Amino acid sequence: MIKTLIVFGTRPEAIKMAPLVKELQSDANFEVRVCVTAQHRQMLDQVLEIFDIKPDYDLNIMKHNQSLYSVTADVILKFEEVLKKEKPDIVLVHGDTTTTFASALSAFYFKTKVGHVEAGLRTFNKFSPFPEEMNRKLTAALCDIHFAPTKRAKLNLLKEGINEEDIFVTGNTVIDTLKYTIKKDYKFREPILNEVDYTKRIITLTAHRRENFGKPHENIFEAVLSLANEFDDILFVYPVHLNPNVKDVAERILKNHPRIILINPIDVDDMHNLMAKSYLVMTDSGGLQEEAPSLGKPVVVLRDTTERPEAVLANTVKVAGTDKEKIVEILRKLLSDNEEYSKMAHAVNPYGDGFASKRIKDALLYYFGYKNERPEEFKGSDMYV
Ligand code: UD1
Ligand code: UDP
Repeated sequence: MIKTLIVFGTRPEAIKMAPLVKELQSDANFEVRVCVTAQHRQMLDQVLEIFDIKPDYDLNIMKHNQSLYSVTADVILKFEEVLKKEKPDIVLVHGDTTTTFASALSAFYFKTKVGHVEAGLRTFNKFSPFPEEMNRKLTAALCDIHFAPTKRAKLNLLKEGINEEDIFVTGNTVIDTLKYTIKKDYKFREPILNEVDYTKRIITLTAHRRENFGKPHENIFEAVLSLANEFDDILFVYPVHLNPNVKDVAERILKNHPRIILINPIDVDDMHNLMAKSYLVMTDSGGLQEEAPSLGKPVVVLRDTTERPEAVLANTVKVAGTDKEKIVEILRKLLSDNEEYSKMAHAVNPYGDGFASKRIKDALLYYFGYKNERPEEFKGSDMYV
């Protein structure tokens, strides 16, 4: 059996690792252990509950308004104990958070093989997103096997000198997750979302990036306020991230407006079904840029860079940056010009076909000699390079 230790710590990692945990648990060739760092506490637990994942280890590291230093140090030290106890054949990490990098480093010190899920995303700007761009580059350098979601991600890894035979193009596991969550006639867990007037045009909004703390987030929220004042047939629904650097500013600028609904972070199935009912999405999040195109919803990215250019090429994502006037201008056009909106509102699936977890499982079976053939690669992203 392949003893596999899966580690994650934040909401998006959990959402994207959940289908892989299920896939590996259902195969007798794998002995699966799950370790959560709990870099996030409440937002992680929401996901664990929805997918009924019971971690074998919970490092419980989250502190209020934590620093990158404390998260990094706590994960490296506490994960060492788990490695010593479990001695896994392979550790699987996800994406680009500080949990990802620190647990990969800890596993490397232990001389354990490491597999990187969602490998190869790059903006080529080390401060945008910060610290994620550096986290994923450093993680790639530490890893032995790389699960690139798209062809473009694979090309990025090749340019960094990673061996082609160690890279598998799998699609993104978040598209597997959508298969679990999107339902017809969905009833929301969050009662407020069942009361929303869906005859209005709903704009789902999220924001949390560290490089947007302060002025950029203020600009974004002022743009939102100005649009809510200008258009009376729209309704912003904004589940506010628990990071105090975001929450305080969001509440100061956006509270008590009749066309802006601020709510606590919602469960992932609520989130996906909310997006499915929305007119468009405004976000600085990474994951939403992958989910919304697959649901046929235009995305306006509230950042200067994106590591997910595939949907920009497919014209369902626009990178607006964080300048108030620029955001208002782009949104005004999408809200007033039907033709402009229709050009962006079509479903594309450059990020996956719902079988990424299976491909990752097959790649692991191949890597450890349980299968003779490499798995078929995900081809849906080949034209977006
Ligand atoms: C982290 C990741 C980021 C990822 C994001 C997803 C790093 C450096 N950042 O950013 O890459 O995109 O998660 O959401 O790895 N908090 C709570 N409860 C929670 C979660 C957060 O109270 O469930 C508050 C705490 O005060 C915590 C703070 O938010 O200290 C910041 O959490 P942290 O994980 O350091 O940063 P995020 O901004 O969430
Ligand atoms: N999400 C959620 N509840 C919310 C907001 C977001 O479940 O209230 C989901 C969203 O659908 C996506 C993921 O969380 O799957 C994105 O997480 P986040 O924006 O925190 O991080 P990023 O993707 O930017 O790393």
